[in-house]
Amino acid sequence: MKAVIIEEFGDPAGMRVADRPKPAAGPGRLLVRTEAIGVGGVDAVIRRGTIGLAGEPGMVPGSEVAGVVEAVGAGVDPGWLGRRVWAFTGLTGGYAEYASAGLDDVTAIPDALDSVDAVTLGSAATVAHFALAHAHLAPGESVLVRGASGSIGIAAIQLAAHAGAAAVAGTTSSAERGRRLRRLGATHLLDRAGAGDDAFPDQVDVIVDIIGGQDVPAFVDRLAPNGRYVLVGAVAGFPPADFGRPLLTGFRLSRSIAAFSLDSVPVPERNRVRAQLFERAARGELGSVVHEVLPLAEAAEAHRRMDAGAVFGRIVLEP
Ligand SMILES: NC(=O)c1ccc[n+]([C@@H]2O[C@H](COP(=O)([O-])OP(=O)(O)OC[C@H]3O[C@@H](n4cnc5c(N)ncnc54)[C@H](OP(=O)(O)O)[C@@H]3O)[C@@H](O)[C@H]2O)c1
Repeated sequence: MKAVIIEEFGDPAGMRVADRPKPAAGPGRLLVRTEAIGVGGVDAVIRRGTIGLAGEPGMVPGSEVAGVVEAVGAGVDPGWLGRRVWAFTGLTGGYAEYASAGLDDVTAIPDALDSVDAVTLGSAATVAHFALAHAHLAPGESVLVRGASGSIGIAAIQLAAHAGAAAVAGTTSSAERGRRLRRLGATHLLDRAGAGDDAFPDQVDVIVDIIGGQDVPAFVDRLAPNGRYVLVGAVAGFPPADFGRPLLTGFRLSRSIAAFSLDSVPVPERNRVRAQLFERAARGELGSVVHEVLPLAEAAEAHRRMDAGAVFGRIVLEP
C-alpha cells in the first residue's frame, strides 16, 4: 500500500510517499481501507520533532481516519466487515491507504455523513463537547473560545451556540475566518489578545482555551465570579509557571482552572458521544467544516499550510 512516512523530522519536506506492507487486522482490531484522513495539530507537533513525541524515522504519521472495514481480527464481530467507520489509529499509522485500529477506537458512521465530514468531527467535536461539559456550561452563560478557527475551536463555537450560550466569542487573527465563525454561531469576534469587541462582556463564565502560552493569566483574569477555564491545547506552548496567580489575587471570586484531555473520559462514553455527534451532523444540526481536501501524496503541502497557521477547520487527505 502507499503511505506517507516521515523520513526526517522537522520541515514538511522530510515527508514522502513510500510503499509499506498493508497492516494485518490483528486480534481485537479492524483493518480500514481509508477514504478520508484527518491532518491534526498533533501530527504537525510529531513531525516537527520538537517536544519528544516523535517516533523513529520512517514512521507513518496520522491518527484519525474514516473508511470501510476490510478485515477483522480474532475476537471482532464479522458484522463490522464492509461498514463505514471512523477510527483512531493512535499516534501513528493514519496517512496510508489502509490503517488498523482497536475495536474500542472505532465508531460507525451514519449513511448520511460522508467520510470527510466524519474525520473533521470525530476527534475535534468530541473534545469540544467534553471540554464544554467539563466547564459545566449552562444556558444563558457567556463563552470565549481561544483558537476558534481550528478544528476543536470551530466545534466548540457551534456546540456552545447550540447549548444556548447567551454570548459566544471566538479569537481569530483573520477577518475572513471571523466571518465564517459568525456563520457557525459566534456572536462576537476577538483578536488573539481577546480585544476588538467592546460589546463582549469583560467577564466571561466559561473560557475554552486551545492556545495556552504566555497569555493564559490575562485570560484567566477575565473569568466572572464562579467562572470556569478549561485548558484543552497548547498551540502557543505551555502557560507561564505562575499562570494561576489571578485566581489567588481574585480569591473571593471562586474561579477555577482545569486542564482537560479526552483521554480522561471513559472509552464507552467517548464513543457514545461521538456517535451522537455524527447523528447530529448527519441531520444537519452541526455543520462540520473542512478546510481543504488534498490527495495523500500532498501530505507535506498540508503540513506546510498547518505551519503557516492560516488553516480554518481541518485539512483532509484522500488516498
Ligand atoms: N485535550 C485534548 O483531549 C486534545 C485532543 C486533541 C488535540 N488537543 C490539542 O489541541 C491543539 C490543536 O487544536 P486544533 O487542531 O483545533 O488547533 P489548530 O488548528 O492547530 O489551531 C487553532 C487556531 O489557533 C490560532 N493560533 C495559532 N497560533 C496561535 C498563537 N500563537 N496564538 C494565538 N492563536 C493562535 C489560529 O487561528 P487564528 O490565526 O485565526 O488566530 C489557529 O487556526 C493541540 O495543542 C493539541 O495537542 C487536545
